[in-house]
Amino acid sequence: MTSRKAKLIIDGKEIDLPIIEGTMGPPSIDIRTLSQEGLYTFDPGYISTASCSSAITFVDGLNSQLLYRGYPIEQLAEKCDFLDVSYLLFNGELPDAKEKEVFQSTINGHSLIHDQLTSVFKGFRRDAHPMAVMIGVVGSMSAFYFDDMDVSNRKHRRLSAERLLAKLPTIGAWSYTYNLGLPFVYPQNDLGYAGNFLNMMFSSPNKKYQNNPVLTRAFEKILILHADHEQNASTSTVRLVGSSGANPYACIASGIASLWGPAHGGANEATLKMLAEIKNESRIGEYINRAKDKDDEFRLMGFGHRVYRNKDPRSEIMKVTCHEVLDELNLSNEPLFKLALALEKIALEDEYFIERKLFPNVDFYSGIVMKALGIPNSMFTAVFAIARTAGWVSHWNEMMGDKNNKIGRPRQIYTGKTQRNIS
Ligand code: CMC
Repeated sequence: MTSRKAKLIIDGKEIDLPIIEGTMGPPSIDIRTLSQEGLYTFDPGYISTASCSSAITFVDGLNSQLLYRGYPIEQLAEKCDFLDVSYLLFNGELPDAKEKEVFQSTINGHSLIHDQLTSVFKGFRRDAHPMAVMIGVVGSMSAFYFDDMDVSNRKHRRLSAERLLAKLPTIGAWSYTYNLGLPFVYPQNDLGYAGNFLNMMFSSPNKKYQNNPVLTRAFEKILILHADHEQNASTSTVRLVGSSGANPYACIASGIASLWGPAHGGANEATLKMLAEIKNESRIGEYINRAKDKDDEFRLMGFGHRVYRNKDPRSEIMKVTCHEVLDELNLSNEPLFKLALALEKIALEDEYFIERKLFPNVDFYSGIVMKALGIPNSMFTAVFAIARTAGWVSHWNEMMGDKNNKIGRPRQIYTGKTQRNIS
């Protein structure tokens, strides 16, 4: 809180509103007392509304800055692994060597899932989308783990967060191998978080997965870059569901559901679908024109961002990784990847995209990297969900530990019929 105040004058009446300053970022006008004056504010999509205060992640969309607990994403992507980052998001500090060892062993200890949960998988159609399966399986974890359900207890919250972090790669990979009709591959803790997921995805009883350090590191970077992004749609969903005291598994299942939408986590899958539809470079112009046409609903998937009105720092990192992976696999001349790079170039030179500062976002490049790694389109958002679980559990824990936490209950502007009687 500062001594600065905003003044609202309505029908001649002056209302002083305090201004709240964070440690970084724009100040916010505290409008909490407005409802006592019989007034609401209107802000669909929360374009100008801070829904909470948080010490976890800072995004400055104009200056292309992303910090997790104060550390720039560029440094975290270069120097840390995903478990360091998860520990940082949840606890506020990077782990020292001893803390890392304990955390690693805790996560390893939870990587298996209750054997009966395999029956939950088997209730789904084989061709169900992995995200649909993940929503169901994660939601049903509350029917298997109930020794950590007291959401007001810090130790319970930590235990459920560790379980979710540890089990999400297993649940994600199994959602895919279930599609294929292959047996579930059990986690192998010595492979590390990223390597273990790739192994569960790609090995089978008759074929061992060959771990390639360049590709595993690329995958680890996807996890790090997607681990958190402050109050995006899915994180806000987790907070809203959690604000009622709902159990952690229900909260994370709702986050996964929100993430699945094509305007959010579904963008990387939508990008690859779009590339498949464009098919060849000669048709790029036609699709760019469609993206610019206001009468056409088509948008260039993987371009633009609600918060980054300049380059997305994550996409700059992923772009470098993308080239490393394509070089490592000798894929730069494969038609799909050539098409993606040609589209990127043409859009970046187009006046419409330049004027609106529409750059490729992280999901444009992460989609290409995942495709190159052999991860099927249907698993792209599932990978995002595995990564974002680190952010979701951290936000949920922060909110539940906040004494000022209130159940989320937005207001509305009613535009329906006024009271009338049945004749
Ligand atoms: N293709 C064509 N035009 C676009 C695009 C696009 N991808 N994105 C924005 N615009 C235009 C938009 O039509 C508007 O034009 P005008 O000023 O003439 O009306 C202008 O750019 C500003 O866009 P906006 O609609 O105000 O932006 P928004 O904040 O409402 O939408 C977005 C952000 C990400 C939903 C949108 O850019 C989009 O739909 N992009 C494609 C989907 C996508 O890649 N989403 C992933 C986001 S990153 C992952 C994540 O963090 O979840």
